[in-house]
Amino acid sequence: MTKRKILITSALPYANGPTHLGHLLEYIQTDIWARFQKMRGHEAYYVCADDAHGTPIMLNAQKQGITPEEMVAKVSVERQRDFSDFHIEFDNYHSTHSDENREFAELIYNRLNAAGYIKKRTISQLFDPEKSIFLPDRFVTGTCPSCKAENQNGDSCDVCGATYAPTELINPRSAMSGAEPVLKDSEHFFFDLPAFEDMLKSWLRSGSIQQEMANKLDEWFAEGLQQWDISRDAPYFGFEIPNAPGKYFYVWLDAPIGYMASFKNLCDKKGIDFDAFWAKDSDTELYHFIGKDIIYFHSLFWPAMLDGAEFRKPTNIFAHGFITVNGAKMSKSKGTFIKARTYLDHLNPEYLRYYYAAKLNSGITDLDINLEDFAQRVNSDLVGKVVNIASRCAGFISKRFDGQLSPDVAEPALFDEFSAAASTIADMYENREYSRAIREIMALADKANQYIDAAAPWVLVKNDETQKQAHDVCSMGLNLFKVIMTYLKPVLPNMAHNVEVFFGTTLNWDEVSTPLVSHPISAFKALMQRVEMDKVNAMLEESKDSLNSAPAIDPNSPLAKEPIEAEIEFNDFAKVDLRVALIAKAEHVEGAEKLLKLTLDLGGETRQVFSGIKSAYTPEQLEGKLTVMVANLKPRKMRFGMSEGMVLAAGPGDKEIYLLNPDSGAQPGMRVM
Ligand code: 2FM
Ligand code: ZN
Repeated sequence: MTKRKILITSALPYANGPTHLGHLLEYIQTDIWARFQKMRGHEAYYVCADDAHGTPIMLNAQKQGITPEEMVAKVSVERQRDFSDFHIEFDNYHSTHSDENREFAELIYNRLNAAGYIKKRTISQLFDPEKSIFLPDRFVTGTCPSCKAENQNGDSCDVCGATYAPTELINPRSAMSGAEPVLKDSEHFFFDLPAFEDMLKSWLRSGSIQQEMANKLDEWFAEGLQQWDISRDAPYFGFEIPNAPGKYFYVWLDAPIGYMASFKNLCDKKGIDFDAFWAKDSDTELYHFIGKDIIYFHSLFWPAMLDGAEFRKPTNIFAHGFITVNGAKMSKSKGTFIKARTYLDHLNPEYLRYYYAAKLNSGITDLDINLEDFAQRVNSDLVGKVVNIASRCAGFISKRFDGQLSPDVAEPALFDEFSAAASTIADMYENREYSRAIREIMALADKANQYIDAAAPWVLVKNDETQKQAHDVCSMGLNLFKVIMTYLKPVLPNMAHNVEVFFGTTLNWDEVSTPLVSHPISAFKALMQRVEMDKVNAMLEESKDSLNSAPAIDPNSPLAKEPIEAEIEFNDFAKVDLRVALIAKAEHVEGAEKLLKLTLDLGGETRQVFSGIKSAYTPEQLEGKLTVMVANLKPRKMRFGMSEGMVLAAGPGDKEIYLLNPDSGAQPGMRVM
């Protein structure tokens, strides 16, 4: 087999926010593929980096009162710890905010510019006059021009699905300051994507791109390619464009260049020949694993940039779908927005690696994590089938046969059948048909168990005459187990490592046809525990809490005790009609322990409200005060009469109840917003 040179990447995660199960699908998928290629003896490198630039990261850092560099560094440490705890093994993890990336971004830009692929023109964009910053689309909100739904994003409407320019919004507002944005002119730099249409079409035809991707691309070609705006005005966290003070590369320009930068950083450390992988005439392979949402960037902009700047283009781009949990989009309120760290606090990372592998294929359909199925699948396949083979055989070898495998292979034909599966399984991994590979491997595990069931070594060991047979059967079982674990090694690297310690030998792909004979083994230790639903449920519970009380909250603060409720849409909030109310009268209620009866004046209209604030206030303290009430709460019949609304107060209860007071100047009946 010829040794291939392969460079593999996963999309660079934004240095913003925690790693979650959605991220992990991609890194696990790629890691399995990279490990597989290395196991096959190819020269493969898997690189990644933090995607450090852009407005959201700049603003998030500002909010935290730190520099973007500090925030990126902080997130990077956590991110890499998450990845490494899931056994995702990069050859290099770098950052787009690095010297290498600046050099390559400038080099590529300068080459594109020199070749005439950079165009300049003045455009008019929404600008926040209070914050002095141009507003990215998603930082503008307003009323949808199409269906008139309020509080929609600057690029599309969540209610009717219309897409539009932020300038088309009715009554637009800056999400940063609430100010009304103004239109302001500025010169922008554009990459001339349409100039690459023919090149892109033939490049895409030359490889075997995923069918779904080909369809998407056909649509985009039919719509017509557009010039791509690659500059952003200061303030911006990124690289300044050469000879263009105050203009920065848009984050998406230098993000994919980060693949090169991370690899260059590795080459410098390890003495690898960078040009062999990136020169225009390179005969090495380059693959990008990405989510389906960023196909446009990777299959149009990126190859065009590379081509225009005289670099090689990717060999292929592998897109995957999104994850859902229990059939629905990950949800913070249901606790299904599961962070990598929360998962790790409760469950073994290899459960998830296995489950993803068991469900992944080469397409871009979404993958559902059904948590019952997850537990059931891992328990029945890994614990019930795979580990079971070893645990039924290893004890006898240790106790009865001096920890030594038999000199003979009991069933050579069966062993050959197992090792002959190597090439089919390799093809499946190669084609990212992991679920098929897993099915094939589990069919072998079933066969191994059937063999042991039929041979019943626990019976054979009881008779002196069948000792040799017992030894042979258990050794055979362990040899079959070894082949299976070799096939599973890209998916379960940690368990495979423990199996290597047990056998005292490395699990190599090209050694599956060589059985271990007269070979010493170590004492067998439990390789994997069953998934317990209690732990899964605890993880879900914690996912609810961990998001509701954001990390910045002091554990002694009231917020830690009363976590913030699940997010609601603005439209839901807008349904609550809050009004300033004057407490015209407050009275004790006969027989009511906690309630006071309040007569509220709404500037013309009066309401009677029963309020549970008696433990904290006397009627005299309340009369004449202004407060805030929910004016459109459906009247409720209480034991003492109708209650027509609700007054707002804060605090845990008893003596600690604090009625809300509007500031001076508020008048009864005024709307609160
Ligand atoms: O979509 C994202 O999360 C981007 N940070 C991916 C960048 S991939 C590459 F181009 F850098
Ligand atoms: Zn709409």
